[in-house]
Amino acid sequence: MSSTFEQATTVEAAMLSLTVRNKTEIAQEIFLFELVSDTQPHLPAFSAGSHVVVVTPAGLTRRYSLCNAASEDGRYVIAVKRDAQGDGGSVSMADRVQVGDRLLVSRPENYFPLASNLSSCVLIAGGIGVTPILCMVHELLARKIDFRVIYCTRSPETTAFLEELSAPELAGRVLIHHDHGDRALSLDLAPLLAERASGAQLYCCGPRPLMQAVRDMTRHWPSSVVHFEDFGTSPHPAHEHGPDQPFSVRLARQNLTVNVPVGVSILEALRGSGVSVPSSCESGTCGSCRTGLIAGVAEHRDFVLDDDEHGKDIMICVSRAQSAELVLDI
Ligand code: FES
Repeated sequence: MSSTFEQATTVEAAMLSLTVRNKTEIAQEIFLFELVSDTQPHLPAFSAGSHVVVVTPAGLTRRYSLCNAASEDGRYVIAVKRDAQGDGGSVSMADRVQVGDRLLVSRPENYFPLASNLSSCVLIAGGIGVTPILCMVHELLARKIDFRVIYCTRSPETTAFLEELSAPELAGRVLIHHDHGDRALSLDLAPLLAERASGAQLYCCGPRPLMQAVRDMTRHWPSSVVHFEDFGTSPHPAHEHGPDQPFSVRLARQNLTVNVPVGVSILEALRGSGVSVPSSCESGTCGSCRTGLIAGVAEHRDFVLDDDEHGKDIMICVSRAQSAELVLDI
């Protein structure tokens, strides 16, 4: 008998109730879910790079990129990596959701869109970060735009969409690299990104170390053509920045000071004080929460700002302070 993982909260009332038509383990601990509506043949449209928010059986909401072609309007396809070390959302999807179950799913949103004026692009995926990249591959093929894919995983067994990305029509365009869990065997990105084809843009989705490596290897590319996505799934290891410290932010235009404790972002602290600031991804990749930095020393943890922007702006969803106080242009 099927079950329904629906929770009637106000926020979720606007969500779609979709049925799981297929569930397949496509790689070790990675599950593909095909979601359809019992009542609507056409689902709300999406574009490459879009994601949906799913209410998992554990009651936690999780964002998952859509990986099927955006031209398909009758289904959403997501892939979920079962993370036994996580907080239970992905495990509940992998272990408890069965074909025929219904899930509450948001309308698609896109913080990671392909540019409309692309002439060529480089797509870089790490692990389950391949999901929006696969959707982009579909779109780029349809738009006849030149691209290449660099896809880094641990091993063939843990590689989602290995068959699709090894298809003859993609021959010569896709480089799949396995490091077998050994950082010494990580792909050297430097020679691959040394030269930028005229007009090329880069899209990268994967774990934070991969995004950091791509960021480092593309310092000579204009920052406006290098795009990142991680959904906040990559923790910010303490060894990268040192342990978090509490600090305060002074809002220069409001004569208000807000304390930011350990474990709370500036954005969350402001919200808690009734201060509304634009935001979307809350993972330091979309650029929505860019805020002017008037004084203080920030600890930048985003993938939006360049070095030359670090003195005057801060992404308040992820970045913190090295000084006891930051003064923000709010
Ligand atoms: S909300 Fe997306 S970068 Fe801060």
